This record gives sequence, structure tokens and C-alpha cells, in this order.
Amino acid sequence: CGIVGYCGHQQAEHVIIEGLRRLEYRGYDSAGLAVVADGSLHWAKKSGKLANLVSELESHRLPESTQGIGHTRWATHGAPTDTNAHPHLSADGKVAVVHNGIIENFATLKAELIAEGVTFVSDTDTEVAAHLLGRETAKGAGLAEAMGRVASRLAGAFTLVAVSADEPDVVVAARRNSPLVVGLGEGENFLASDVAAFIEHTRDALELGQDQVVTITPESVTVTDFEGRPSEARPYHVDWDLSAAEKQGHDWFMRKEIFEQPKAVADTLLGRWSDRGELVLDELRISPEELRRINKIVIVACGSSFYAGMVAKYAIEHWTRVACEVELASEFRYRDPIIDPMTLVVTISQSGETADTLMAIRHAREQQARVIAICNTNGATIPRESDAVIYTHAGPEIGVASTKGFLTQVVACYLLGLYLAQVRGMKYGDEVHAIVDELNSMPDKIQAVLDGIEPVYKLARKMAMSEDAVFFLGRHVGYPVALEGALKLKEIAYLHAEGFAAGELKHGPIAVIEQDTPVFVVVPPEGRDQLHDKVVSNIEEIRARGARTIVLAEEGDAAAESFADMVIPLPKCSTLLQPLVAAVPLQAFACELATAKGHDVDQPRNLAKSVTVE
Ligand code: G6P
Repeated sequence: CGIVGYCGHQQAEHVIIEGLRRLEYRGYDSAGLAVVADGSLHWAKKSGKLANLVSELESHRLPESTQGIGHTRWATHGAPTDTNAHPHLSADGKVAVVHNGIIENFATLKAELIAEGVTFVSDTDTEVAAHLLGRETAKGAGLAEAMGRVASRLAGAFTLVAVSADEPDVVVAARRNSPLVVGLGEGENFLASDVAAFIEHTRDALELGQDQVVTITPESVTVTDFEGRPSEARPYHVDWDLSAAEKQGHDWFMRKEIFEQPKAVADTLLGRWSDRGELVLDELRISPEELRRINKIVIVACGSSFYAGMVAKYAIEHWTRVACEVELASEFRYRDPIIDPMTLVVTISQSGETADTLMAIRHAREQQARVIAICNTNGATIPRESDAVIYTHAGPEIGVASTKGFLTQVVACYLLGLYLAQVRGMKYGDEVHAIVDELNSMPDKIQAVLDGIEPVYKLARKMAMSEDAVFFLGRHVGYPVALEGALKLKEIAYLHAEGFAAGELKHGPIAVIEQDTPVFVVVPPEGRDQLHDKVVSNIEEIRARGARTIVLAEEGDAAAESFADMVIPLPKCSTLLQPLVAAVPLQAFACELATAKGHDVDQPRNLAKSVTVE
């Protein structure tokens, strides 16, 4: 969900709607807002996208106000209806609250409130918080005090933001395990799930800690713990601006982000090499001694970030000879994984807020493992709870389906692998130096892929007529690329798409190949080992069964071309770095196909950009 709170001198409704617009990628099942004017609360809420709320506000105008809260929802408890939309109000109608997260003990609290005679109007867990706040303020507590008391009774993950009819010029929030940042303006202050909501007003922000209450007025920001004792929050400056959070002429954020990849990758690589040609990872605050001691690496992540981790495993094990496992964050802590102080856990998360990944970190740290986060979002919870962080510096990613986030995560993983190889003594010294040079040439190669993207678009438009399943094959690092290609298509084109390891084809998946089944195949560069030839044989095998083969292969790869119905040429690069060019046409294909089908590419159904519930 996306949350906004505002207190200042501008029209709150306008500031909140614009903020929600920039947060809509976090959830778009329903939206709502509440303002305080003349000592009473006024609100509006609507199921569906933000546009529905905006038209509701046009027909039922709210009074002018400079103080309010807003919400855009990704439904967890209760269907996405008008009634379940936020804000929720206390029984006396004096307190309005919006919420992100899940209140795990809501059933107990609800029973307690019902026993006291409270009537519930929605199916949400949030309404419990609204009634509890109302009960405290009715007893005479100020909103901030009430918030602390209520928050300390809640279990689970939550960000709550509230206003009270009795407290002009005050907005209060609390957080636990769920994102919330403060925007520091002049004569105005902001609260939001992420800085995108207020970036057009200020780039100065405060990163809140766990279990804190924050009170904003136009002139002040006060941070306490749940008991009301003063507490610290870290100020920081956002290094991107409004233009980064806008589409700049593209039809979708996703398309813009695909085209930003040469720059995003260059930014991930920027400033990483010393004059002596050594890799420097400034923000990695784990000593070389400690990195030398580790005997196992475990990568944990979700979605596209998990596939970035799969690519990383091949590179890290090859360069460092340290065993590296990759695991879905949602599975990790529930299977009693073997980790100890000698294990390095690497978490990958674009948003830095994914609850499954966060919980995996906590579990790893309880077992004394060291944790490095690879993350794109300054001030997010995951880097804050890790021992160290490598930022990907990709700029904001707004399209729900990850593109530049994924590519820059792969790059950051390479940097980590190379750095580990450097501090531990390189087994493949020459090869590593060559890779470093090659990494620096990747932005140009990605650009070359984008410059030649038109035939991929043409194919996508042609295939948009069909509902046929699409398959993706790859081997070695091409395997996670195939999985990622399939995921993109599922996410935004709603097509049945599967990625397979090409070598595994003969053990089952080949049975699904029929006449004209479209199959994308990622072919590794021709090299010393037989990987390339094996994949070419796989293409031959599926072609013999009638598959329509769309082959991603290095320019001039005659062997691969001979079995291809269509070739998508890739610039020359070594096997380990090929994902950086091979993933790009698959992203562009999915984006164009979903566009041709008339889908909302940036906000696909049922998904949210950052999933802050387990
Ligand atoms: C959500 C998104 C995916 C994303 C995954 C992990 O499910 O829809 O696109 O890959 O979360 O997100 P993270 O922010 O942790 O990388």
C-alpha cells in the first residue's frame, strides 16, 4: 500500500492526490483520503484505481484544508470495496487512520472492541486501529500519545498515519516493519511510504527507525518511541529529482526504465575502481578479514531479485570458489537453514521493503550470520537492518515489473563477487581483470540491444493476437534469464509462460511442445566448453517437434541461426555477463506485447511493487 500524510500551507487534497499518484504502483485496489477542516473530519474513498477517487472528489468536493492523510491500497484483509478502502474512522468519527501492513492480532482486538459495544463497518484489520485510537483520544490522550499506546498493542507489520478532528495542524504516524519516511519542507512536512510521494516538494528526508511515533506540524517534526520518549531518526538527502519520477515522453514507466538501463548500469559501476585498478566498495562496511573467514554464501530474495541471485551464484562460485546457495526468501527461514557466523547472507531487494526478505534477514542475524543487502532504495528497512549494503543507484523504479532494478542487481552481485575474489585472493586473476574491463563496456552493449529493438516489438505485436503459452529456455546463466523472461510475460501480459533449463527439457517439458509453440532460447556465446553446442542441439530438438524458435544468440552465430525461426542478435560478451544483454529484449518483448493487448503495463492486475506483508 502507499501512504501519504501532509501538514503545511498548501491544499492538502492536492498534495495528497499527487503523492498518491506517485505511490500508486504500491497498490491500486482502492484509494482514499481524509482532511480536517473547521474541527471536523471530511473524507472520500473509492474502490479501483486512484482515478475513481479523483472523479468522486470532483462530484463531492471536500472543504479546503492544509492537513490530511491518503492511501492507495493493495488488499490483504477484506475485498477491494469502497467500504474496505482507507481511511477508517473511529466510532466517534473524530479520528481517521490509514494503514499499510497486517495487524496479526486483529481478531483478539476486534473481539475486545465488540465486547465494549463497538460496531465494525468494514472487514479490514485497520478498523481495529481506528477504534483503538478513538478510544484513547476519547479518554483524553493526545493523538501522538494515543498512537504510541495503540501501536504497542499491535502485533505484526504496520505503518499507521492518523489525523484527529480535535487537533488542527497535526498528523501522527507510527511504524513497525513497514515503510515510512518523513519529508522536511519549509512551513510544511510530509509523511509517505517512500520519497517519490513528496519529491516535487522537498529532497530532504528523515529515515525512521523501528517502533517509532512521528508527529508532524507545519513547523516541526517530533520523533519518539511508543512510550513517548524522544528518539533518533537519520536525516538524508535524496539524490534524484522529480524528472526521475516521471515518464518523460514514454507511454509507460516500464518502457522508460528499460531504456534507462545503459545509464542505470553505468551508475551502479560508477566510482567502484581505484586508480590502482582495484575494486572499491565504499559502503560495504565489513572488514576484509571477516570476508576472508566466510565459508558459505546464501543469497535470499523474491521475484526478479531472486533470479538476479541465481545469476550471481554462477559468477560468485566461479570467481571465489566459495559455495553459494540461492533461496526464495519466503522459504528460507521456515526450513531451518544451516547458517552460522561463517555464513555470508546476501539479500537482494530493489525496494528494500519486501517483508519476506526482511524476515529472512532477521532470521539470519539471529543465527549470527553477516548480512549484506543489495538494494536500490536509500533509507529502506532492509539496508538498515543489514550489516552492510551495496546500493544499485538505478534511480526510482516505478513500473511494477522490475527491469533496471533486475539488471543493476546483477551488476551489484558481480561487483560483490569480484570484490570477494579480490580480498580472498583470486583464483582466476587474469580472467577477473578481463571481466572488470568488460563490465565497463556493458552500458554500450545494452544500448546497442535497445537500438535494434524494433524487430522484437514487431514480433510482440504479432504474438499479441494469440493466447498460446510461451516457453523460455536457457542454460547456465541463461537459465535464470529464461525464468525472468517468463516472469515478465506472466506479470504484465497475463500469459502462461514458463522458463526451463534447456538441459532439463528432455526430462519432461519437451512433452508440451506442439506445432508452432513459441519458444525463446538464450544461447550462450561460443566458447571453450560445450555449453553453446548443447543449447544448439536443444533448439534442434524442439524444432523437430514443431516449435517456433526465437533464438537470442551472439551476432554471427551461424550454428544457432540455422535452427531459428527468428534471431535476436546479442552483442559479443563472455558467458557470465551475457544476462545483461540477453534479459533486455525479453523485457521489451513483454512490455510491447502487454501494450498491444491493451493492459496497464505499469500496474498489472493483482500485483504490487513492494509487498510489505508476508
Ligand atoms: C514484488 C514485485 C516483483 C519484485 C518482487 C521483489 O513481487 O511485483 O516485481 O521482483 O516484489 O521485490 P524487491 O523490491 O524485494 O526486489
